[in-house]
Amino acid sequence: MTTTSTDHRIAPDAAGSGGLRLDGVTLTLGDGDSAVTALDHVGLGVAPGEFVAVVGPSGSGKSSLLAVAGGLQQPTSGTVHIAGTELTALSDKERTAARRRHIGFVFQQSNLLASLTVREQLLLPLHIDGRLGAAARTRADELIEAVGLTHRAGSRPHQLSGGERQRVGLARALMTSPAVLLVDEPTSALDRVRSAEAVQLIAEQTHERGTATIMVTHDTAIMDAADRVHEMVDGRLS
Ligand SMILES: Nc1ncnc2c1ncn2[C@@H]1O[C@H](COP(=O)(O)OP(=O)(O)O)[C@@H](O)[C@H]1O
Ligand SMILES: [Mg+2]
Repeated sequence: MTTTSTDHRIAPDAAGSGGLRLDGVTLTLGDGDSAVTALDHVGLGVAPGEFVAVVGPSGSGKSSLLAVAGGLQQPTSGTVHIAGTELTALSDKERTAARRRHIGFVFQQSNLLASLTVREQLLLPLHIDGRLGAAARTRADELIEAVGLTHRAGSRPHQLSGGERQRVGLARALMTSPAVLLVDEPTSALDRVRSAEAVQLIAEQTHERGTATIMVTHDTAIMDAADRVHEMVDGRLS
């Protein structure tokens, strides 16, 4: 899906109640002579159900973009709205709550807990929220199957390959059907077939559940699954 608005970076319906929108976002890291402009006046809108890919070389600001979009890092200037709320106007505590409720992250490192099985990794966030019922268990098993790990459901991280751990991280992020899904280099440890499957799963969840999804990657082979592709160079978005 491409948009016809004058500013092609902002999808017309992303400004409404759902979705994700960044306006004039600048992020400066470090200070003095070592200051780096990681994001330079970035504007981006992602509507519910839209899958946006951002490609760019290492160091261009892709991970910074996701950190700011997901409220992990406050921008130096500019605003972020998710699901109609200005994330950047919230207190730290409110922002953490909004992140847990509305945002799913898939980090480059899967950040799994060593002592938990694959199935337990998926159930933990709902357990903490007191929402662990039969529906959650069914969804966990469906997602474990969707990432091809049914035979691994009882395994712990040290028993898994890097690619398997990456697929657990993806399944875990989808457990809560977040309004906004932010995915950082999801296929770096996967072969071509597994990469295509992982990206297909992200696209399906985005379209079926009306998720606003940003996936950053430097893998041009997986960009076709996205509705739009933007390029990031030196903190600026094409
Ligand atoms: N904590 C930090 N302090 C200072 N500079 C940083 C920090 N994190 C990232 N950077 C710099 O910000 C720029 C963008 O980094 P990053 O968003 O990680 O890019 P990418 O994900 O595209 O590789 C790079 O120049 C990087 O060196
Ligand atoms: Mg990165």
